[in-house]
Amino acid sequence: MPQPHLRTVVVLAAGEGKRMKSTLPKVLHPLLGRTLLGHVLSAAAPLGADRTVVVVGHGADQVRAHLSEVAPDATPVLQAEQLGTGHAVRIALEAVPDGAGTVVVINGDVPLLRPETVGALVTAHEEAAAAATVLAAEVPDPTGLGRIVRDADGRLEQIVEERDADTTQRAIREINAGIYAFDAVRLREALGKLSTDNDQGEEYLTDVFGLLRSAGEPVAVHVAVDHVETLGCNDRVELATLRRLLRDRINEAWMRTGVSLLDPVTTWIDVTVALDRDAVVDQNTQLRGATVVGAGALIGPDVTLIDTIVGPAASVIRSHAVGAEVGAGATVGPYAYLRPAAQLAEKAKVGTFVEVKNSQIGAGAKVPHLTYVGDATIGEQTNIGAASVFVNYDGVNKHRTVIGSHARTGADNMFVAPVEVGDGAYTAAGSVIVDDVPAGAMGVARARQRNIEGWVVMRRAGTAAAEAAQRAHDAKDGQPAGDAKGASGATGAASHSEAIHGATETVGGASGAGDTATE
Ligand code: UD1
Ligand code: CA
Repeated sequence: MPQPHLRTVVVLAAGEGKRMKSTLPKVLHPLLGRTLLGHVLSAAAPLGADRTVVVVGHGADQVRAHLSEVAPDATPVLQAEQLGTGHAVRIALEAVPDGAGTVVVINGDVPLLRPETVGALVTAHEEAAAAATVLAAEVPDPTGLGRIVRDADGRLEQIVEERDADTTQRAIREINAGIYAFDAVRLREALGKLSTDNDQGEEYLTDVFGLLRSAGEPVAVHVAVDHVETLGCNDRVELATLRRLLRDRINEAWMRTGVSLLDPVTTWIDVTVALDRDAVVDQNTQLRGATVVGAGALIGPDVTLIDTIVGPAASVIRSHAVGAEVGAGATVGPYAYLRPAAQLAEKAKVGTFVEVKNSQIGAGAKVPHLTYVGDATIGEQTNIGAASVFVNYDGVNKHRTVIGSHARTGADNMFVAPVEVGDGAYTAAGSVIVDDVPAGAMGVARARQRNIEGWVVMRRAGTAAAEAAQRAHDAKDGQPAGDAKGASGATGAASHSEAIHGATETVGGASGAGDTATE
């Protein structure tokens, strides 16, 4: 068995990326869950390199800060002036102790590169004991890229940059992908001999190949199976193209594992997301960050989930969630907003125009309509009436509301925290709950209704309302009762009802306590 090679990965990330026209360094632009640099680092990760060096320059502080988050073991090395890719690698190697082995160099802007491809390049290089191996690809449009120039026997002769190429060389469609494996010792030697005698006056890493070849060292080309992997990113149009290509790759992979994507073209899933079998993702949906979707869950249409965990068989429709947890079989939306630490237990419901933040909603509990729940704990099987607000902020501090299990709170309640509503308690519609409601009690906190008879006819004479009121009055006095039943029946129900009745029946009148708040 040969000795395992010491492996060093060098990522080139010092360039500005002028054509991005951005204050953000190019390699930090995001692409479906990772930065361009993050993608490159994760493509190299399975190599298990003994050390990873990232050459930083433009926006060095930002790139270093990002590295400390995503690849704390990588060593940033500063290239203060961008004097070329050869210069960049020279500086990188000066920062790591001498030694034999393989140096893998990757341009920082090839985010679609697959780990398998890097692995195959390095294996081919090490098995052939080559001095240098370049990853090449046949592309439809080689504009702007370095060309692979081969001799009559098809062996690599040199790599020529487009701006230094003659017409024959420019016609070559086999390009340098900007990913290489080198024998460390021979690379160091060749880097010392690089000239700046080229159109840009830079030290070109690619010239190492011509130099080694002239010295009779074995150099090789490894051709990528899929040229798409080698696409670089130089401006935002290319970034958008890469995003579409990566989206298709990610989506296809999920469909092959048993996830249904009803409209893959409008489904954008970060590389960091996980979905379980039989999950169904409907159109126009974005799944981002550390989002996890359980088996059989239904997500979409029109949903954005960021760092959100959705349990099996749950459903989320036309909603936005950040840092939330949706339990098994729970339902969210349409039109809900779940904010960080919104936690829905099994079979809980958060309905339409409901916002939840830093709150636990118990198993089977429902918050069906038009409600803000902030800093609250809601017990299992409890129902929160429509249009309620958990008043959590006094202008200085946040406070919690605790609602027990099997409670039924009336519509249009304000829970002024800190406050507690006990197990099985009720509250009346329109209540401002400032004091605790004990278990099993009915909390009523609103003014009693007073009707001023005949007010409209007296104070709004001549209006349509006054005429209608007059007709209703006349009909009640003179005509058979059936005529005016509709109008007077409705008001009658309201005025006859006790506070308790009104508390729970928010819409209809006869369908039984509490139900109307949830339908
Ligand atoms: C380079 C190759 C070209 C290849 C192409 C693939 C050279 C001379 N040319 O060209 O053959 O087809 O990549 O995309 O290498 N960088 C530094 N320091 C520098 C210069 C560059 O860190 O001084 C970094 C850049 O940030 C970038 C990478 O090296 O990540 C490539 O540099 P870039 O200027 O984009 O090279 P290309 O002209 O695209
Ligand atoms: Ca480039």
